[in-house]
Amino acid sequence: MAAIKNLMDKLVGLCKRRGFIFQSSEIYGGLNSCYDYGPLGVELKRNIKDFWWKAMVQTRDDIEGLDASILMHPKVWEASGHVANFTDPMVDCKVCKARFRTDEIKPEKAGQCPRCGNKDSLTDARNFNLMFKTYMGPIEEQANVVYMRPETAQGIYVNVYNVMQAARQRIPFGIAQIGKAFRNEITPGNFTFRTREFEQMEMQFFVKPGTDMEWFEYWKAQRIQWYDTLGIRQSKLHFHEHTPQERAFYAAAAFDIEYEFPFGWKELEGIHNRTNYDLTKHQEYSGKDLSYFDDTTREKYVPYIVETSAGCDRTVLTTLIDAYDEDVIEGEARTVLHLAPVIAPIKAGVFPLVKKEGMPEVAEKIYHDLKKHFPVFYDDGGAIGRRYRRMDEAGTPYGITVDGQTLQDQTVTVRDRDSLAQTRVASDKLLPFIQEKMAGYKRME
Ligand code: GAP
Repeated sequence: MAAIKNLMDKLVGLCKRRGFIFQSSEIYGGLNSCYDYGPLGVELKRNIKDFWWKAMVQTRDDIEGLDASILMHPKVWEASGHVANFTDPMVDCKVCKARFRTDEIKPEKAGQCPRCGNKDSLTDARNFNLMFKTYMGPIEEQANVVYMRPETAQGIYVNVYNVMQAARQRIPFGIAQIGKAFRNEITPGNFTFRTREFEQMEMQFFVKPGTDMEWFEYWKAQRIQWYDTLGIRQSKLHFHEHTPQERAFYAAAAFDIEYEFPFGWKELEGIHNRTNYDLTKHQEYSGKDLSYFDDTTREKYVPYIVETSAGCDRTVLTTLIDAYDEDVIEGEARTVLHLAPVIAPIKAGVFPLVKKEGMPEVAEKIYHDLKKHFPVFYDDGGAIGRRYRRMDEAGTPYGITVDGQTLQDQTVTVRDRDSLAQTRVASDKLLPFIQEKMAGYKRME
């Protein structure tokens, strides 16, 4: 795949045109950094969440699921350090009023506004807390302040013993959660890459001190492999080890899985060895004993935590960027999304070659039969090449065409979106044929 010019602009256009992602509140001029998922986007996002859940919860015996509330006791955020430290230093331009994180100002251009270019126009740096605040109940006063969670992790920490006892788990074990998080980012941007409302897919693995680095290495390997099974090219992924400046003071180790976006290598997921910091802090602030007693070894300790923290929206964006391609088929340009079948919003398009001679009836039956198993799309409008291309642009991996021969021998053609190969298949064998192809899918580089 060659590099594509203006990829982000083209992708944003495709997302709107095909119903993957829309700007929030568009008819009112939009709300900065907030997005809505359309019919195809919601399927893609749900498939990614299901795929993560299957890998992290369903197929494992040592991880349990949780769905904690977004609003939590305000003391949680004091204990976690978010009230005091979840800040970005920022500066304002006194002339054009733009706001920047200080790390966006180049040292050689200190004092100069990157937007309007005025010199000595920037204020001194001030710390800006990224948590959204609201009030619980009708009275808007300090005592009623609550925060919209900036990460899902804390909901897991405060529930560790509820889950452990209810699910009869023992250490080592993990808790996984998918849910919304909110951060009042100073500079959101790059489409859905950095937004103020987003979803995380987080897993916190509780381990015995001393075994933490072994588990850390294990989870690093598991997580990068997951992106491979998601169909993302491995050549576009790497690990970035946090420098001591980047790493939280309590973390014993921290690596990011980064993807090569059109705007540079950026974080997709963080894997952190958080030591026993979180549970020690919650123990201190809640006054509850959060140590674990191992009745086989008679040892008591505060568990260490290895965290895998992925952004769901960022993964959706990555799959779209990584899948996007343009090529020329029989002299005609096409845009195609090489999405892995497991996450593709529609698995197959069903097309009668012409709208007569009984072909629509046969195609409709195939469509209704397959629809019981996975999402399929029926299209009888326009030239067959145009119909294929509409499905290519939606990332649909297979196209099923009912033609003259179908009426003679009950076979249909199955067109492969990536290789463009056409195979004739008996229509009563279509379901296992497609299921097998989906299961055996391998991304073509
Ligand atoms: N509990 C750890 C934690 O929240 P993080 O590195 O701040 O760690 C984890 O966030 C992941 O959440 C990131 O790798 C990214 O995928 C996603 N994420 C963070 N901030 C985001 C934002 N403003 N917009 C979209 N995704 C974001």
